[in-house]
Amino acid sequence: MFTNLFSLDGRIALVTGGSRGIGKMIAAGFLSQGAAKVYITARKAGPCDATAKELSAQYPGECIALPIDISTMNGIEMLAAEIKKREPRLDILVNNAGAAWGADFDEFPESGWDKVMTLNVKTPFFLTKALAGPLRAAASADKPAKVINIASIDGIFVNPMETYSYAASKSGLIHLTRRMAVKLIRDHVVVTAIAPGPFQSDMNKAARDNADQVATRVPAGRIGTDEDMAGAAIYLASRAGDYVVGATIAVDGGIVYANPGIKGDGWD
Ligand SMILES: NC(=O)c1ccc[n+]([C@@H]2O[C@H](COP(=O)([O-])OP(=O)(O)OC[C@H]3O[C@@H](n4cnc5c(N)ncnc54)[C@H](OP(=O)(O)O)[C@@H]3O)[C@@H](O)[C@H]2O)c1
Repeated sequence: MFTNLFSLDGRIALVTGGSRGIGKMIAAGFLSQGAAKVYITARKAGPCDATAKELSAQYPGECIALPIDISTMNGIEMLAAEIKKREPRLDILVNNAGAAWGADFDEFPESGWDKVMTLNVKTPFFLTKALAGPLRAAASADKPAKVINIASIDGIFVNPMETYSYAASKSGLIHLTRRMAVKLIRDHVVVTAIAPGPFQSDMNKAARDNADQVATRVPAGRIGTDEDMAGAAIYLASRAGDYVVGATIAVDGGIVYANPGIKGDGWD
């Protein structure tokens, strides 16, 4: 008989970029399945604190704000030190904070390359490395620790938007997930990724402000919901996902399986 296959009872988690959007969906999802503490980060302290307060009021577990800019090595070390000071063990790390940049090929600036590649690829690697101690301390063969990287379907197929560094960063993160997974599984730390399709957020303003129009390009006929994102993250974080190692799960209503380049897909 299966019991508690999707439970996160007593787990300690850190979700970067948890103040809003996809990170907030995941933080709420973890708390809904019994996580004891979910730390969230963001640069802006006000929204980070507000979300922590909101989620702590909704669930039995605690949501704790740690507002730190993690786009620098200094910020990464500060966040890791803060976690280590408070927790000997970390069960789940979600590398979700990310940035995007769009510009014509001929105008694309170096700043739009460096900002995106740093936060979307370098930060997940070095934050995982900085937190490897508490992740390994939480991990056992029976209850592995989890690292979940939030990639994008833009790292799987070619999006018509001119977001060169974003596409490269997400594709890089998907392969980095595989590479780190085969190393860290030896310590019972399971590394996976989620590749979201369109979800309402400040980053995806099209999905937020024109959901019906975006939905016309999604085989499922709708954009993603909080439940869709939380469900995938809970699966990977819980016992149910323990044997998924290095894989990236597309949560996209079927977009990556639709054939790009045909009518109505945004290329015209
Ligand atoms: N929404 C979608 O449709 C979609 C699709 C595919 C992939 N994704 C991916 O999902 C992840 C979350 O995106 P989202 O759509 O939820 O975006 P969002 O609404 O812009 O949220 C981004 C989060 O990251 C935080 N953040 C940004 N820069 C940071 C930094 N330097 N240090 C610490 N925190 C930082 C933001 O807070 P502050 O601004 O206060 O720092 C916020 O909490 C990203 O990796 C994105 O690429 C999203």
